[in-house]
Amino acid sequence: MTYTIEVNSPEETEAFAIKLAEKLEPGDILTLEGGLGAGKTTFTKGLAKGLGIKKMVNSPTFTILKQYSGNLELNHFDVYRLEHSDEDIGFDELFASEAVSVVEWAQFIEEYLPSERLEITIERLSEESRSIRLQAVGHRYETLCKELMP
Ligand SMILES: Nc1ncnc2c1ncn2[C@@H]1O[C@H](COP(=O)(O)OP(=O)(O)OP(=O)(O)O)[C@@H](O)[C@H]1O
Ligand SMILES: [Mg+2]
Repeated sequence: MTYTIEVNSPEETEAFAIKLAEKLEPGDILTLEGGLGAGKTTFTKGLAKGLGIKKMVNSPTFTILKQYSGNLELNHFDVYRLEHSDEDIGFDELFASEAVSVVEWAQFIEEYLPSERLEITIERLSEESRSIRLQAVGHRYETLCKELMP
């Protein structure tokens, strides 16, 4: 199942992510793909807000994983630095935890990703417009998508 929406500002991207966050359950896995500046971190900020996380979310260059706590735990991965590496920081355990995981540049750790996940692809259409595509892989994520857009 694939679902695509178009948004026209960073605020709209965040608002959509907040709506998604409200449907999330412990252990959910979200992957984020899209070029430099597509809006992956902006989307993640919305997720964090939707999970009731008060801390500011950002993506420091040398940090692969930041962990936050709200209504649910959130693991925010940015694996950009792992493009040419097969370093395993303990992905299996991290993805198996009760935290919601969101992975920026997920294609760079393809071999460590759980097979079932919600794949989110953000594409830049213009300065402020983006298309956000959700692709559900697995039963849990089909259900999630259906809840999101009844
Ligand atoms: N509709 C939109 N959704 C998201 N970001 C937008 C939108 N319109 C403009 N922007 C701007 O695009 C930039 C997106 O930056 P962001 O850090 O979220 O991207 P990213 O995909 O995480 O980049 P990186 O590849 O560096 O990790 C921000 O400056 C944001 O304000
Ligand atoms: Mg980013």
